[in-house]
Formats: sequence, structure tokens, C-alpha cells
Amino acid sequence: MSSEEMLKEVAIEVSTCSKCNLCKGRTRAVPGEGNPQAKVLFIGEGPGQQEDRQGRPFVGPAGQFLDELLDSINLKRSDVFITNVVKCRPPNNRDPLPEEIVACDEYLNRQIAAIQPHVIVTLGRYSMTKFFGNEKISAIHGRARKKDGYICIAMYHPAAGLHKPDLKNVIRDDFKKIPIIIAEAERI
Ligand code: URA
Repeated sequence: MSSEEMLKEVAIEVSTCSKCNLCKGRTRAVPGEGNPQAKVLFIGEGPGQQEDRQGRPFVGPAGQFLDELLDSINLKRSDVFITNVVKCRPPNNRDPLPEEIVACDEYLNRQIAAIQPHVIVTLGRYSMTKFFGNEKISAIHGRARKKDGYICIAMYHPAAGLHKPDLKNVIRDDFKKIPIIIAEAERI
């Protein structure tokens, strides 16, 4: 099966998934989207209100900042793949529960296996935990590490930078490292 077919299969399953209670409150599931051959995979936390309405990842205010960040390193959405730890919106944008993350993890693992990205960028706490355990984001953000066979780099969630100019600049600086890390990953 091609990576495109594998991703399509995941998206179809996600759209009717009822493995956890988040399915009860969703308008649309958000499987993720982008280039099946992406060198970079971005993993956020979970859909917010706009994403739940549109069925697409990062289309609200945090998504606008993500678009700016991608643009700053000459990447388009069609170059990368963007997904989330949980594919359905938690009520009132609360944090996803451990059992919701576990229920959805299989979909994320299949997306990673389909894309086989050179670099995985975790956005925020929940996707970071999958690869970096309980480390503190303040200690490890912006630094590449090999985890589970992939080069991973933890970033603050774009939403965290929206109202904090200092953090916004930290995120901008961290993003500038992505092209260097991709180039290094390709040499390995
Ligand atoms: N925040 C996320 O983590 N993911 C989205 O898709 C939107 C906002």
C-alpha cells in the first residue's frame, strides 16, 4: 500500500471512530492533512473549535501563526504533514485525557509509519510527551534528538506564543532550526 493509501485509510477510520468519548462532542474528526511524502511531520495537541468545524488541522488563530512560521522557513502546508495527538476536539478545548490519547495513538503511529518523515516536530506538551517523556519543554525546546528511529524536535505550541511576545520569538527562533535539522537528517 502506498503512503497516500495508508493515510487515506486512517482518515476514513478516524472520521467514524468511536474508540473514546471525544466522538460524542465532535462536529468533524480532524485526521490531519498534507504531503504523504513529507520530510517534516508536525504533531499538535488536538482540534479546537475552528478545526472541529472544518475538519482540518490548525485553521484557527494558532494555525495562522503556524502558517507564518512555515512561511518563515519557506515551507508550504503542501510540503509538510500536520496532525494531532487526538483527532477529535476535547470539550471546551480542555486538555486531552490519558485514555483519549491512548485510544488515538494507533492512528498517529500509522500516520508516522506511512509518512516516515525525516523530522518530527512536536508542538506543545502532549505530542512532546510521546517522544520525550516527562521532560520539561523549557529545557529541551528547539533541540533535535533521535527517538524511536526519527529525528524529533520539541517546540512550544504556537497557541502559547499568541499572547506572549517573548515566547513568540522563541518559537520563531526554534523554527529557523528546522531546515538545518532536515539537512542534517538527510545526511545520516
Ligand atoms: N491546536 C492544536 O494542537 N491542533 C490544532 O489542530 C489546532 C489547534
